[in-house]
Amino acid sequence: MKFLHAAGVSLFAVLLVLPARAAEAPVVPAAPAPAPAAASTPAPAPAADPAPGASRPPAAAQPASPVRLLHPPDLTFTNDPKVKVFAFRPQGGPPVVPVVNGKAAAPLDGEMFPKGEVSLLPGMNLLQVGETTVRVFVLPGAAMETFRFPSGTQGRDLVFQAYRLHPALDDGCDGCHTVEGGKIQAKDQKEACASCHDDFTKASGGKKPFVHAPVASGECTACHDPHFATRPKLQKLEKDCFECHDPFPAAGTVHAPVAAAACVSCHSPHAGPAPGQLVRPGNALCLGCHKAPHDRHRSSTVLGMLTRVPEEFPKEAGELSCTGCHVPHQSQNGGLFRKPREELCRTCHSV
Ligand code: HEC
Ligand code: HEC
Ligand code: HEC
Ligand code: HEC
Ligand code: HEC
Ligand code: HEC
Ligand code: HEC
Ligand code: HEC
Repeated sequence: MKFLHAAGVSLFAVLLVLPARAAEAPVVPAAPAPAPAAASTPAPAPAADPAPGASRPPAAAQPASPVRLLHPPDLTFTNDPKVKVFAFRPQGGPPVVPVVNGKAAAPLDGEMFPKGEVSLLPGMNLLQVGETTVRVFVLPGAAMETFRFPSGTQGRDLVFQAYRLHPALDDGCDGCHTVEGGKIQAKDQKEACASCHDDFTKASGGKKPFVHAPVASGECTACHDPHFATRPKLQKLEKDCFECHDPFPAAGTVHAPVAAAACVSCHSPHAGPAPGQLVRPGNALCLGCHKAPHDRHRSSTVLGMLTRVPEEFPKEAGELSCTGCHVPHQSQNGGLFRKPREELCRTCHSV
């Protein structure tokens, strides 16, 4: 269980990475003051590999409280020349003016959570908000999600990525955040998320659902980025379910949807009507994909003398349970059998 570990991957950690990287290899002109002039290089000329001054450590005796940029992150790719800008400055201050390729754009709206939209040029753009400068590559109308730009140095490409924004950001940050003592705090997720989405833990149709542990404990961000992500559905985990669960052995027979990592075809990530958050209970789960499996072994009615179905064998309304003979994930035995074939048959047939 790497549960706690996965849950701890916060956006904050991501925010901290940038300055560290920039410090490693400071290709930034060594000017002490923020130098928008250095950023006025015309569009596609990103010779430098490391961030051109991603963000500077906040100066010790800074009068205004620092503005931090949430979106866009460094190395953003977009096919839309207009990009949404979301920043935060829990202590408030004067209007924040974004600088695009050295030119001041219209000020952002809002004091603690400044937001707005800036127009960019096709190609490489340097967008400066507060003390942070990020690189945004624009290719109008392009359909790709990842864009590689040869860096020219050390043969390493700059990898720009497209991000999908959570529509909730348009409604403001305060749906999910409070500001206390000049610090930004996340509200309880169970309540904040459920104000716009279904509460998965609630009973529906008179039945109490079986709820996945991290959902029951209100840790939506164990799996989702609350702000934006490169993947659909705001998914942030590289290894999805295997971030917390051990993968199944690849040996023997592996059920096709398991081999394809299509775990959510059987398990809801949130809650379901059967234990293990299964999307359908009992044999209906299997029959959703196997419309007509072998016709014998469906009925538990014993016709022949040599067959006797033990009391404890799992059954469902006169039918044998599929999972009485087959396992759902992987088996050392052929046919996804629960036991070696001979042994399995002898459970009921005395031949
Ligand atoms: C849909 C809910 C939601 C919205 C809307 C939202 N946030 Fe967040 N934000 C969160 C949650 C939840 C966390 C905690 C992340 C975690 O636990 O991984 C967080 C974390 C953060 C953090 C990191 C600080 C920390 O506590 O780790 C910052 C900074 C932040 N949000 C800024 C913003 C800004 C700025 C906006 C508005 C543009 C915004 N958020 C909108 C839910 C949201
Ligand atoms: C264990 C990981 C995990 C947790 C925890 C989790 N989700 Fe999800 N969520 C997913 C996955 C995976 C999908 C995509 C499902 C798919 O592709 O069918 C998803 C999809 C969604 C969607 C898109 C609509 C839908 O149902 O497919 C919403 C909304 C959502 N989650 C909200 C939440 C909220 C709110 C919480 C916290 C109460 C939460 N999730 C907790 C993994 C998780
Ligand atoms: C202010 C309303 C609001 C709040 C609060 C909110 N969401 Fe959403 N969320 C939306 C809207 C609107 C959509 C897009 C329509 C939809 O899929 O329901 C969305 C979509 C999503 C999706 C699917 C994105 C996709 O690519 O389809 C996920 C996952 C999600 N939200 C998770 C969360 C989580 C987790 C929280 C709490 C941290 C949360 N939301 C809080 C409004 C909200
Ligand atoms: C952030 C960590 C995390 C992620 C990601 C996660 N789970 Fe879980 N899951 C848990 C925890 C914690 C439990 C409860 C402890 C346990 O039974 O192992 C649990 C329990 C389960 C159970 C019930 C186990 C039982 O014995 O009844 C199933 C089934 C399950 N998860 C499936 C999934 C699937 C499918 C995915 C991917 C969509 C997934 N989980 C992703 C943390 C996670
Ligand atoms: C074909 C449907 C199906 C698929 C696909 C599937 N599962 Fe399951 N899973 C089940 C069933 C059914 C159970 C209940 C097991 C039982 O009753 O013996 C289960 C049980 C579990 C459990 C509880 C502990 C255990 O091993 O019995 C976990 C954890 C789990 N599944 C995770 C996953 C993950 C992760 C994936 C994706 C790699 C996945 N499952 C794909 C049907 C499926
Ligand atoms: C999401 C769709 C899906 C679900 C749900 C599903 N299966 Fe399958 N299953 C497949 C696919 C795809 C194959 C491989 C192609 C085929 O043989 O039809 C397969 C193959 C099998 C095989 C043959 C394995 C072999 O290699 O000999 C068995 C047995 C089986 N499934 C049993 C089950 C049982 C039992 C359940 C319910 C727990 C179930 N399936 C649920 C999609 C599914
Ligand atoms: C009494 C044990 C038993 C039960 C219960 C059982 N099966 Fe099977 N299954 C077998 C055997 C034995 C085979 C090997 C082929 C055969 O002899 O029919 C098999 C083969 C399969 C296959 C491989 C392809 C095929 O059709 O031959 C699938 C898929 C399958 N079963 C699905 C299911 C589903 C779905 C259920 C529940 C509705 C189920 N099985 C219940 C014993 C069982
Ligand atoms: C859970 C009990 C159970 C298990 C395990 C089981 N069977 Fe059956 N089997 C039955 C029942 C019930 C029937 C149908 C009624 C009857 O013939 O008495 C049946 C029917 C059959 C038939 C058809 C017999 C006929 O007269 O039409 C064959 C062949 C068969 N089983 C082979 C197998 C094989 C091979 C295995 C092991 C892979 C196996 N069975 C495992 C319960 C079982």
